[in-house]
Amino acid sequence: MKVLYVYANPKPRSFNSALLEAGLRALEDAGYEVELSDLYAMGFDPVLSAAEITGQMRPDARSEIEKLRRADRLILQFPDWWYGPPAVLKGWIDRVMAYGFAYDDTHEFETGFLRGKKGLVVMTVGYAADYYAAAPQRDLAHLLEPLHYGTFAFVGMQPLPPFIAYGPRYMSEEERKACLEAYARHLLEWL
Ligand SMILES: Cc1cc2nc3c(=O)[nH]c(=O)nc-3n(C[C@H](O)[C@H](O)[C@H](O)COP(=O)(O)O)c2cc1C
Repeated sequence: MKVLYVYANPKPRSFNSALLEAGLRALEDAGYEVELSDLYAMGFDPVLSAAEITGQMRPDARSEIEKLRRADRLILQFPDWWYGPPAVLKGWIDRVMAYGFAYDDTHEFETGFLRGKKGLVVMTVGYAADYYAAAPQRDLAHLLEPLHYGTFAFVGMQPLPPFIAYGPRYMSEEERKACLEAYARHLLEWL
């Protein structure tokens, strides 16, 4: 099983980097073949240009497309920034889920070109879980919908249950450790 792990986090030492490490270790131990796209480390350009929309694909997007073509599973990991992914990941989606590769006018949803693949979102959020439960406007489903439905489902991929780490800065050492272990179990259960 091949996994493309797309990672969008600028901070080298953070809870996101600990999740990445735990996830990569779990996948490697279980025998998955993983390709990592660390978007900040790569200096990935997130801006989709007019030329690219009309089909003049640049080599960096082409290389990501080849990784995604090879992959059976796609992981998108990021910290929540303003109820969405960081711009670099939004731009990765803009440029890599390209017309003609992921979908076209007659290939979307059930007939999307990426059918058969599955996608999983891994996200950290600033507050603890009770904050999000306290008002319907805070429901993180609002944030996940553009990824699960607008992206994965649109191109034919099956969205898998997301993994959300709530309020890492409020966690004790034990809670952090438990969260990292839960993440490793989540990956092995769903991928
Ligand atoms: C630009 C920016 C926007 C953010 N927007 C939100 C937000 O909308 N909701 C939220 O819960 N946390 C928000 N946060 C907090 C981050 O999600 C949080 O610090 C991060 O998930 C913690 O992970 P880390 O320890 O790996 O940095 C934001 C942080 C930044 C820098």
